[in-house]
Amino acid sequence: MISRLFTLVLLVSPLAHGLSADPIYDETQVPSYTLPDPLVFKNGSPVTTPAEWEKRREELLRLFESHVYGKTPVGRPTEMRFESRKKVNGFLGGLATLEEIRIHFSPAAEEPFLDLLVIKPSQIPETGAPTFLALNFNGNHSIHPSPEITLSGSWMRTSEEDVKNGLIDDNRATENSRGSKSSRWPVEKLIKSGTALATFYYGDIDPDFDDGFKNGIHALFGQPAADEWGSIGAWAWGASRAMDFLTTDKDIDKERVAIFGHSRLGKTALWAGARDQRFSLVISNNSGCGGAALSRRCFGERVGRINTAFPHWFSDAFLQYNENEAALPVDQHQLIALIAPRRVYVASAVEDEWADPRGEFLAAKHAGPVYELLGKKGLGVCDLPGLNTPVGDTVRYHIRAGKHDVTDFDWEEYIKAIKSIAAARR
Ligand code: GCU
Repeated sequence: MISRLFTLVLLVSPLAHGLSADPIYDETQVPSYTLPDPLVFKNGSPVTTPAEWEKRREELLRLFESHVYGKTPVGRPTEMRFESRKKVNGFLGGLATLEEIRIHFSPAAEEPFLDLLVIKPSQIPETGAPTFLALNFNGNHSIHPSPEITLSGSWMRTSEEDVKNGLIDDNRATENSRGSKSSRWPVEKLIKSGTALATFYYGDIDPDFDDGFKNGIHALFGQPAADEWGSIGAWAWGASRAMDFLTTDKDIDKERVAIFGHSRLGKTALWAGARDQRFSLVISNNSGCGGAALSRRCFGERVGRINTAFPHWFSDAFLQYNENEAALPVDQHQLIALIAPRRVYVASAVEDEWADPRGEFLAAKHAGPVYELLGKKGLGVCDLPGLNTPVGDTVRYHIRAGKHDVTDFDWEEYIKAIKSIAAARR
């Protein structure tokens, strides 16, 4: 039997074998590493057919659950229901319609709920509109200044700057925060391109602080065990519940729903897209460690650092890989491979070294063999492309100029990517 081990030998420094938690910012200090092969079962036998891949896919999902993100409840609560709370025709000067839907998870408790904002072009083709389902950091009202969007009443993370600028008061959003993140959400551009945008505030599902999982969706499901979901698992589960609603809306093209997230929400988008095959495009914007970046490179943010700064994001089982990335039974190229044969877009920013752009690129590249087994092309290039030059098709990647952010360039590329998917047949 020929093993498909592929070894990446990079320049090794005797001082750097990933033993310290310190981030590495110098390629010559990246330790040598061997990536676990997505196309070899745990027992060492190779995966040579799409049918075998289905089994390997299940095995990999279990490994990511057990060692990284934690096990997540399957499916939706039986008593989940959708409440339409607002509809506005003639939004954006007549270009769009707006709807606000509250997803209730339990008849017994008002909280938690998920408030989904759906903005659609006024003219929808017979097949429905291609749709971005996007998680947001600061409340639905932060994506656009319109007073039509209900101000979120949920708990918000805050920074000194947000308080100083009067955007957050006592961990609640103020009227001043309307549109505060609009530079990251070119709503008019999306609508004019014929795409719809559905978005929700991630903190509705689980407020982003370490409270021992007393609040958010964890409160409903009970205290998670050490190998059960952390906050990323919860946010990803919330994205699937939002997708449950989108499948009921005839204006949405179910064959063209992309899940989008930036940074920690990019990690979330990848995990949601790996698990939930209804997402036909998965977009990871600057997701970094625990997202698209290979953990074994130890470049930029490392496992030990992320687990210390954000102990609630992953399962406790992930802690055993602090300063010990080489022992992980998986690496992040396999997370991307779990999306195959569906589309995935990994985007980096050149100044975002904390997220390891090269590591994000390499993970997208090393997911390739799984795409090829399923009859699709992988990234199709060996080396990091030039700035602002997207490469690949089904697996697509770009590194743009600038810093950790979401820009119009990023969105213009995501619009092209979603529109290149064939529309649903009716
Ligand atoms: C921190 C964290 C990253 C994360 C980012 C974000 O920088 O270390 O892992 O991606 O926050 O979500 O904004």
